[in-house]
Amino acid sequence: MGLLTVTDTTLPNQEETVTESTEFEKNQKRYKELIASFPHEKGWRPKNPLIQYGGHWLIQPRIEGCMYAQEFFQARPTDLLLCSYPKTGTTWLKALTFAISNRSRFNDSTNPLLKRNPHELVPYIEIEFAFFPHIDAINNKENTLFATHLPHGLLPESVARSGCKMVYIWRDPKDTFISMWIFYQKQKTHDGPLNSLEESFDMFCRGLSSNGPYLDHVLTYWKAYQENPDQILFLKYEKMRADPLLYVKRLAEFMGYGFTAEKEKEGIVDKVVNLCSFDTLKNLESNQGEKNMENRPSSFANSAFFRKGEIGDWQNYLTPEMAARIDGLMVEKLKGSGLLEW
Ligand code: A3P
Repeated sequence: MGLLTVTDTTLPNQEETVTESTEFEKNQKRYKELIASFPHEKGWRPKNPLIQYGGHWLIQPRIEGCMYAQEFFQARPTDLLLCSYPKTGTTWLKALTFAISNRSRFNDSTNPLLKRNPHELVPYIEIEFAFFPHIDAINNKENTLFATHLPHGLLPESVARSGCKMVYIWRDPKDTFISMWIFYQKQKTHDGPLNSLEESFDMFCRGLSSNGPYLDHVLTYWKAYQENPDQILFLKYEKMRADPLLYVKRLAEFMGYGFTAEKEKEGIVDKVVNLCSFDTLKNLESNQGEKNMENRPSSFANSAFFRKGEIGDWQNYLTPEMAARIDGLMVEKLKGSGLLEW
């Protein structure tokens, strides 16, 4: 709700607070009415059902935000949309794309990444654009970086129409699930206790997770990438972890901000990699303890976005049977797509 404080000169010494509806709030009732008729399923918390929209399961505010973005987000040809399923490396990708595209504007000590969580700098079209339109990254027309967790089929039409580029990142589903379940444990919410690991895992495998089914999400972008390989850069978290320099160069090239041989020699690529590395970001004061985003409320402290950043941490949580179930699903879903070998 946008709060506006007005002082009426006819009422000396009295301040009156009136509320001014945001564009989103003007449309919210219509979205809620539509959403009420969609299939609902028990979610990962008792008071947070998953709702089916466009073949995927989302929580209520994300569908509202999605509908608003579908109606009002006007992508421009110069925009870059970072697309991902939650917990697959979004924060890292936000930091990297911000560091790459703004590298000439800031020096080693003035980069906003040193003071702000990457999520404050690159807004989600279904979250900030709808719910927090006042923030700088939305109002600053020079910002061309946006993010989304929406599957490809739910993107606003303006994305395809504009021909703007997209980057998609995905990750081993076992690590994605563990990262997500532990992340939710850190959430401050009144929606009730989180399901057990076993129940959440079963739901994840059945496609019942935020923006799920996860592998369908991946496939929507994989298909779009195959149809239009120049428009989408497809990345995998594990590959990037193994060779960040190579992928940062590829990312910069794709974004139209390629590094010259001279700049490479000066060590600029290494600087970007180091600035955005898990260790650097995790240890910044802004990402410590209970510190929150400065530009909008969030149910997660900034520190929740930086856990371990490891490959294979699932082994500490999943039984061999659980791992086999999810691996089997992956083969079943992705076989013939070319993604398994990719
Ligand atoms: P883990 O929970 O396995 O540690 P997202 O950003 O999409 O929410 O994904 C979060 C995952 O990315 C978490 O994984 C988190 O620790 C990891 N991560 C966050 N920042 C990172 C960075 N700069 N480099 C590598 N991994 C990062």
